[in-house]
Amino acid sequence: MAEPDRILIKGGRVVNEDCSVVADVYIEDGKIIEVGQNLQIPSGVRVIDATDKLVMPGGIDTHTHMELAFMGTKSVDDFHIGTKAAVAGGTTMILDFVIPQKGKSLLETYDCWRKTADAKVCCDYSLHVAVTWWSDKVKEEMQTLTKEKGVNSFKMFMAYKDVFMLQDSELYAAFSQCKEIGAIAQVHAENGDLIAEGAKKMLSMGITGPEGHEMCRPEEVEAEATQRAITIAHAVNCPLYVVHVMSKSAAKVVSNARRDGRVVFGEPIAAGLGTDGTHYWHNEWAHAAAFVMGPPLRPDPSTPGYLMDLLANDDLSVTGTDNCTFSLCQKALGKDNFTQIPNGVNGVEDRMSVIWEKGVHSGKMDENRFVAVTSSNAAKIFNFYPQKGRIARNSDADVVIWDPKMTRKISAKTHHQAVDYNIFEGMECHGVPVVTISRGKVVYEKGQLTVTPGHGKFIHRQPFSEFVYKRIRQREEVGKPTAVIRKPYEGKVISL
Ligand code: URP
Ligand code: ZN
Ligand code: ZN
Repeated sequence: MAEPDRILIKGGRVVNEDCSVVADVYIEDGKIIEVGQNLQIPSGVRVIDATDKLVMPGGIDTHTHMELAFMGTKSVDDFHIGTKAAVAGGTTMILDFVIPQKGKSLLETYDCWRKTADAKVCCDYSLHVAVTWWSDKVKEEMQTLTKEKGVNSFKMFMAYKDVFMLQDSELYAAFSQCKEIGAIAQVHAENGDLIAEGAKKMLSMGITGPEGHEMCRPEEVEAEATQRAITIAHAVNCPLYVVHVMSKSAAKVVSNARRDGRVVFGEPIAAGLGTDGTHYWHNEWAHAAAFVMGPPLRPDPSTPGYLMDLLANDDLSVTGTDNCTFSLCQKALGKDNFTQIPNGVNGVEDRMSVIWEKGVHSGKMDENRFVAVTSSNAAKIFNFYPQKGRIARNSDADVVIWDPKMTRKISAKTHHQAVDYNIFEGMECHGVPVVTISRGKVVYEKGQLTVTPGHGKFIHRQPFSEFVYKRIRQREEVGKPTAVIRKPYEGKVISL
């Protein structure tokens, strides 16, 4: 029987980023029609009892790489499996990255990504676009993408030397263009030159295993690039978003910059909040390799707790996963040389539970901050709030019904992702999604998925997000440097 398009979620505690209230939520044709107490609803409506449960905006994962061709292979979660896993974990939208090869058209690569994703996605999605080289054509295409293609964020790599990395002058040009067209500049902040040198050094010392991956790019390599990106962004008055903040040092740089009034946002990921880099020293190669990603997880075991503290108090703003999964046989491409282990970890399915467990259950943040960092802040920064990220009249009916008391154990044996391990294996999490609703349809309920590929839609994002650009615009107005008006110098000038 077809799932009715009208749903009443009854008696749950509706949690938004600013308040919680016990209320019913009425959904029709993909939209939230009403939120209130004891709503009188016509017959024929499916009623879902949410007593003692939380009714929250579906999660928004700001950072995924589904079926990405990378480091000689392709990530195994495609847009179908990846978004299926997302909804099983309470996430109802992903933002994936279009990554053109150096010299290739941004627009053509974007079209390619759209074609692949549109047919497969089981929840809504949008696309960031990477700028991996610089030219007038790239500059022009960035404008077209912003004006016509629904893109308002561009990622620049400071790492992956000779592959995706930009030089500082190119970062300056790309950030300037972002500011011009109302986009958000994103950076993968690691010093690519130092990584290349560090890797050579490790290999020359006979360190070929996954621990070399971390040792060749210690925290300061990430912190230095983070500071440099912030400096360049400030020089052109461009908003900056630092993707995958993985270390205490880099997080401190972001936090200090925010305290200095910079328009900068930091994105920790589920992996960095839920586990750490001590695994790189595990004596089983396969175990250690599973955790290899860039920037690496950090061996300082206090890192996840520290990142969570900063996330709780708004020094860090929003969470993604960098879900870029490679199965063990793919990781094994680097069995004799850590630089050839494909970089990437899982997270799209478990992000919500990991953050609930380590953030809310631990007492670091409340349920409202949980909503802020798992959906509403993303929707505000990337300019689709309150279409998403809020349970309110007229918002999209992307909803998760959450049981904060229920527990589950994360395992590769039960997850819905294609990858054959899980970096959170064995983690006991309080907080379980019991029902996920995407575009007004129940897509996951009591452990069962009812998804159709292509059910999700591309979300167009407008430039000049108010949340980001109000301050930028005002600073542009009042902060213009002016020349000192002087009488011309009339004294002697030496002749050369
Ligand atoms: O290790 C990672 N992060 N893989 C995906 C590519 C990137 O840098 O985001
Ligand atoms: Zn990256
Ligand atoms: Zn990434």
